[in-house]
Amino acid sequence: MLDTLLTPIGQLLIITGSEGPKRGSDMAVLPVMEQAALGIKDGRITFVGSAEEAKGIEAKERIDCSGKVVSPGLVDPHTHLVFGGSREHEMALKQQGMSYLEILSRGGGILSTVKATKAESEEALFQKGLFHLDRSLNLGVTTIEAKSGYGLDRETELKQLRVVKLLNEAHEMDIVSTFLGAHALPPEYKGEAEAFLKSMLDLLPEIKAKGLAEFVDIFCETGVFTVEQSRQFLASAKEMGYGVKIHADEIDPLGGTEMACEIGAITADHLVGVSEKGISMLGTAPTIAVLLPGTTFYLGKDSYAPARRIIEAGGAVALATDFNPGSSPTENLQFIMNLAALRLKMKPEEIWNAVTVNAAYAIGRGNEAGAIEVGRWADIVLWDAPNYQYLPYHYGVNHVNTVWKKGRKAGE
Ligand code: NIG
Ligand code: FE
Repeated sequence: MLDTLLTPIGQLLIITGSEGPKRGSDMAVLPVMEQAALGIKDGRITFVGSAEEAKGIEAKERIDCSGKVVSPGLVDPHTHLVFGGSREHEMALKQQGMSYLEILSRGGGILSTVKATKAESEEALFQKGLFHLDRSLNLGVTTIEAKSGYGLDRETELKQLRVVKLLNEAHEMDIVSTFLGAHALPPEYKGEAEAFLKSMLDLLPEIKAKGLAEFVDIFCETGVFTVEQSRQFLASAKEMGYGVKIHADEIDPLGGTEMACEIGAITADHLVGVSEKGISMLGTAPTIAVLLPGTTFYLGKDSYAPARRIIEAGGAVALATDFNPGSSPTENLQFIMNLAALRLKMKPEEIWNAVTVNAAYAIGRGNEAGAIEVGRWADIVLWDAPNYQYLPYHYGVNHVNTVWKKGRKAGE
């Protein structure tokens, strides 16, 4: 006897994950079964087949999903989930034309969130984290990445990472933790970037011993850290057994993407200003391009990451919210799917692969999350949408009908 049987399902997206991330033209392949059924028992997917085959199967609960879409739970592979305060006061500065990097250079931006995060208690950060995770889960995300980076000192970076660990234990969402101590240069290290980076590297053995992060990230940008500083920092982290990631070519085209491919980073993220060489390297390197069009939108830029060219070169693209209080204050990965269609010109099939299987591989969870396979945890979303093309099309609302996390209905 199954616990839950979804049948009949209008369209079941049978995205599978065991073959690795989808690259190049394979990103446009999306297996869809109509008149389908999906069974759940003890939190896991135990049946995938046709509604006809499912007729004789007994279940405690049968859910009619006719005329609706069922997909794997979405994966959001780039967020800055835990932070103090918020930055609505920057809106007026932006409206007056002050740029993101200008606000940062005047001690605002990331540095103002650093102050707020230092001031907030672990408990307050935890409660706030729960709130954002609930919202994200209700928007269809069942696995998420969370970066530190609003401490920039030992005490506060570890505080943020501890909060992520506690959230992972307390909340049904699966959270993958990334150490982003190299997110900005704190004022007390002005002119001493190397010394600051060394102080962050010194935390890595302790972070590893306490199981506080799996990945290490750095913000490689004009006025923040150079490509050479980033290369050395990430190479040292890699030697210590961490997977490495990079905020690359977000605002200025510095060449962080090429460096990420050279050192074998698991992902290079942003890539708005990626060079021709960077695009062609992404076509063959295992490094996944994590694109964050919500940030480009929110920074008010006209030019977006060249998703089409990266896919045409043979690369693997994932999409994420970049949820953070400054450059992308939203938990809504569905809106990112809309932007991917409108601004990145990605096809609906590519978009679904980018927020499921490829997003899971982008955080080392390709064998666990972002796919529908018998035996996997039942992380499933039922969408109030007549077909999968509908989500990238109908924007600005939440299309979720029901989310199951490990077979349990979210919110129950
Ligand atoms: O991905 N670029 C650096 N980090 C974030 C923004 C963080 C912030 O503004 O607080 C990003 O855009
Ligand atoms: Fe980011």
